[in-house]
Formats: sequence, structure tokens, C-alpha cells
Amino acid sequence: MPTRILIIGSGGREHAITKACVRSREKIELYCLGTSRNPGIQTVSSDYLIGSLTATDKITEYALSKKIDFVIIGPESALEAGVADALEAIGIPCIGPKKSLARIETSKSYARDLLFSASVPGIPHYQVFHTMDGAAELLTKLRDGFVIKADGLMSGKGVKVSGDHLPDIPSALRYCEELIAAESPFVIEEKCVGVEFSLMSFTDGITLAHMPAVQDYKRAFVNDEGPNTGGMGSISDANHSLPFLAESDINEARKINEASLKVLCDTVGERYTGILYGGFMATRNGVKLIEFNARFGDPESINALGILQTDFVEVCRHIIEGTLAQLPINFDHVATVCKYAVPEGYPDNPMKGGKIDISALPKEVDVYYAGIDEKGGVFYGTGSRTLAVLGKAPTITQAADIAEEMISAVGGPFFHRPDIGSPMLVEKRIDTMKILRSYAWHET
Ligand code: AMP
Ligand code: GLY
Repeated sequence: MPTRILIIGSGGREHAITKACVRSREKIELYCLGTSRNPGIQTVSSDYLIGSLTATDKITEYALSKKIDFVIIGPESALEAGVADALEAIGIPCIGPKKSLARIETSKSYARDLLFSASVPGIPHYQVFHTMDGAAELLTKLRDGFVIKADGLMSGKGVKVSGDHLPDIPSALRYCEELIAAESPFVIEEKCVGVEFSLMSFTDGITLAHMPAVQDYKRAFVNDEGPNTGGMGSISDANHSLPFLAESDINEARKINEASLKVLCDTVGERYTGILYGGFMATRNGVKLIEFNARFGDPESINALGILQTDFVEVCRHIIEGTLAQLPINFDHVATVCKYAVPEGYPDNPMKGGKIDISALPKEVDVYYAGIDEKGGVFYGTGSRTLAVLGKAPTITQAADIAEEMISAVGGPFFHRPDIGSPMLVEKRIDTMKILRSYAWHET
């Protein structure tokens, strides 16, 4: 009997998960629940359901009817809705933690308080607010740099950074008041200065198997300008670190993921099965934890799963069974560059329904479909990130050249960032870290 796997979600991340499943030596049958008809997932699936990713009753009903062996949950909205809780209650295990564990992502105040109470290293100075009491004092104290974070899931729109989005303290106070009016608690924290990177770890709740570090390019436009996005593309290096990181940065990030997982599981009293994704900033004072996600990153999963040597279905089995310590997990030693094509106007006013022409893309291209709906054999953009390509090569520059050639072949009202993984931007990050580290030297 083939193993029946249900994938929840229909973006680029879920297509990367699908591809990793398809490469398995095991006999599998794939099923997908998505919000749009992703052609890359659809062609390899035995069945494809369009529906809400948070409708727990419908999801359990569907999983039972298809005799699903286990479920892989892509997006955080499904985790927050308790999809893993509902499936596990009927005996179907999930790659993706239960709601109470996913709070490490879904509540910023919960995450900060939990990790602070356990003295996890790398936590910026912060304070949680339910009223305006003390907000002005803290902002004044942090005058050099503060960040205000709405507590819940806000699709990346709840975080405002001084200098970037908030020019002064009065504008910061107005944002805090807006949040209170909307009955949202918030966190004010110290603004960290440095270079961001992501470290995702597979975990069965006991053992963590770390993936290569990845850097997401979040800004919409060339030269890291424009609004923040879900991620326009991402890079990883052949040595599984990044050119601007020291070995100690990777080790600190790994330790933060490990310590945080332990306190989370001990506190909640449940086993975490899935992916823990730490968003970090390398600073002059070491690595700081910016946020946790309870799932694969998008696009980061495309880089990591694209070079996973170990059979992904076997990884999932070991996660579910709690035996991850017994499985060596390996990744190819090559650099990767992922580039997304996104609709014109993305992210603020994205064009919807644009026709996508991929006829010029060579067949062998490693393409990941995302915000695409297929109607009568024609692909249309849904308005979110459209499709990604992954270049793999010995160096980041070579991988970027490959990705650039592939993504440039996509026709239609879409754009991408030609500079992702370019030597100029990689050097810029190396220089930033050199300057910051020299300050740290003078301080000590
Ligand atoms: P988050 O949703 O917490 O990841 O925040 C979104 C983005 O805001 C991050 O990717 C960072 O670029 C920025 N950010 C969040 N927290 C901080 C911080 N403490 N210092 C500097 N930038 C931050
Ligand atoms: N690339 C950022 C995220 O997946 O949250």
C-alpha cells in the first residue's frame, strides 16, 4: 500500500514540499488542499481539493475519506486554527505543531516572555503592552532604535521599525494607540542592527536537525529598496553557512533553536513535530532572535529542500515517530539561489489574473509554482508571489546567474529582482558585518 500524504497549502513552499515527497524512494500517493489550483502540485496529486486551510472539520473529514497516513501543514494560518490538533485527535499525525506549540509564531508576546523566562540567549530588550501605560517611557529610553510588533499573525504587516516605518516617537505612539484601539496587545523592543538570516530545523520535539542557513531578500525592489514582502528570493552557500556569518553565528543560532524548543515543549507538555524556523540577526553583539516561525519559510524551504539528500518522506516518518536522532540528515554541498517572479504592483497593489507565459522556460528548469491558478490549461497569477526558480551551482554568483536566466524567461505582467545573490549585494552584507564587528572590537 502506498503511503498517503496530504499537503495543506498551495504556494511555492508547498510545491517544494511536493517535489521533495515525489523524490522519495517510498511508494507514495499525494493529496493537496489548497486555496488555488497549483499546477505543479496538481499534476502529481491523486486528488486536489480547493478550500479553506483553516476549516478543521472539513479537513479532518477529507483526510479520513482519503485514508491519509500523515499530513504536512505548510502555512501558519492552519497551525493557528488547530488543524494539527484536529487531525491528531482522529489519529492522523502531522508535520506541523499543535496550536499551543505554534504560539511561538502566532503570539509575539508569548514567544518573548517564554524565552526570556528560560534565559534563552539572544533575546532583544523588550516589554509587552496591553495598555499605553509605560509605552512613551520605553520608546524614549530606546530612542536610538525601537520596533513595535502587533501581537498576532498580521501577514508581516504588524511590525513597524523606527527609521523605516516610524520616523519619530509621536508616530510610534500613534501606532501603539491604533493597536490598543484594535484590542491588540503589542511588544516594543530594541531595534537590532546587523544582517538577517534564517535557520530552520527539523524537529521531533526531542532532537533538532538543522538545515543550511538561508538569507531571504525581503524588500520588493533592487538594492533592498521598497516595501517588505513575503520574500523575493533567497540564497544559501555551499558550506551551509552564509558569506557574512562567522562560525560562531551559526552555532549561536543553533543553540537558540535548541534551547527554545526545549522550553516550549517542557512548558506546553507536548511534542513538537515539524519545522522550527528561527529568524535571526547577526549583530556586533552576537546573534539576536528576531522571531520564530513554526513552519517552513517561503522561499527558504525552496533552497533547503532543493538540496536535501536524505529521503524527505523518511525524515517525516522519523519526526512523527520521535526517532529523528537515528536518522543522519544530509544536504548537497552546493550554493542555491531562489528567485520569485511577482505580479506588477506587488506587494501593495498586485495585479490579479495576469496571464503567465512559461513557454520560453526550458523543460528541465527547477520551477516552483506559487500564486497561480490554472484554467483550461492557461496559467493566471492570483496576486501573490507567482512562481520561483532555483539555481544550484558551486558558488552563489553562479547559482544567481542560472536563476536569473531562468526567471527572465517568464513572460507576462510580472517582475523579479535581478540582484538577488549578486556579488554586489553579498559584498555589501560582508562589509556591514565587518564594520559592525570592528565596533565590537573597539568596545571590548
Ligand atoms: P517579524 O515579523 O518579527 O519577523 O518582523 C518582520 C521584520 O521586521 C523582520 O524581518 C526584521 O526585518 C524587522 N524586525 C523585527 N524585529 C526587529 C528587531 N528587534 N530589530 C530590527 N529589526 C526587526
Ligand atoms: N520568508 C519569510 C517567511 O517564510 O516567513
